[in-house]
Amino acid sequence: MKGKQVLLTGGTGGLGLGVIPVILAQGAEVTIPYRNIKDVERLKSILSPTDFARLSFVPSNLEEEASVENLINHIGRVDVLIHLVGGFSMGKTHEYSFSSWKHELDINLNTTFLTCKYSLKKMLEHGYGRIVTVGSKAAVEPAGQFAAYSAAKAGVVALTQAIADETKGTNITANVVLPSVIDTPNNRKAMGAENADKWVKPESLAQIICFLGSEAAKDIRGAAIPVYGNI
Ligand SMILES: NC(=O)c1ccc[n+]([C@@H]2O[C@H](COP(=O)([O-])OP(=O)(O)OC[C@H]3O[C@@H](n4cnc5c(N)ncnc54)[C@H](OP(=O)(O)O)[C@@H]3O)[C@@H](O)[C@H]2O)c1
Repeated sequence: MKGKQVLLTGGTGGLGLGVIPVILAQGAEVTIPYRNIKDVERLKSILSPTDFARLSFVPSNLEEEASVENLINHIGRVDVLIHLVGGFSMGKTHEYSFSSWKHELDINLNTTFLTCKYSLKKMLEHGYGRIVTVGSKAAVEPAGQFAAYSAAKAGVVALTQAIADETKGTNITANVVLPSVIDTPNNRKAMGAENADKWVKPESLAQIICFLGSEAAKDIRGAAIPVYGNI
């Protein structure tokens, strides 16, 4: 990814923290959209000053089309889109609110559509692109109480594979990773750490994501890659 312009969405989240050092080690330029300046300040306190200085931050709400369009025009070029933005909530279907259902689709599927749409315009202009999206094991093995999340992530898989088909014959690829449980601070808080050794480490998933985002992965299109750790 040396010299490549990477748009890393969700870079301030649990997985983002694992992905940032791997992208920087590959020599890329990285832009991270954020909603709350406190998240940027937190990253500043965690990353080395040299790594932090190499990141650009743009305030954006990726659920809004105008905000995504502004973000991508601001960057000017997107060689690699790594779209980590997503969110999770659960509940039995007959008790689950319609507003929660719509929110799951907004945060997981609609942000993916919008960032892919506007990144693809730039990629097609420049004749180069790598898109990596994040689905979930729940997209291919839906479980009770996961209906909204599973449906949204199944949509992410379908969207990514449709883009991979649309971009055949170009140097643009699109692939999706399907994590099970990632070993993030939020998951440790929510579920305890007893089974954390079975979960996927963010830095391990980051290696797979960054490979798919690299020039070397030019012949992988439309893959939905299970990254389940030991679950
Ligand atoms: N954690 C897991 O076990 C797990 C398992 C399978 C799949 N995944 C998927 O992996 C991805 C990363 O997960 P994670 O654990 O790192 O999640 P996370 O810690 O909740 O991070 C999500 C990131 O997305 C950002 N974001 C959310 N809505 C946004 C919006 N409208 N505009 C701009 N930024 C927005 C968040 O910023 P804010 O602070 O502004 O909200 C945050 O930086 C997600 O797609 C998730 O569904 C996670």
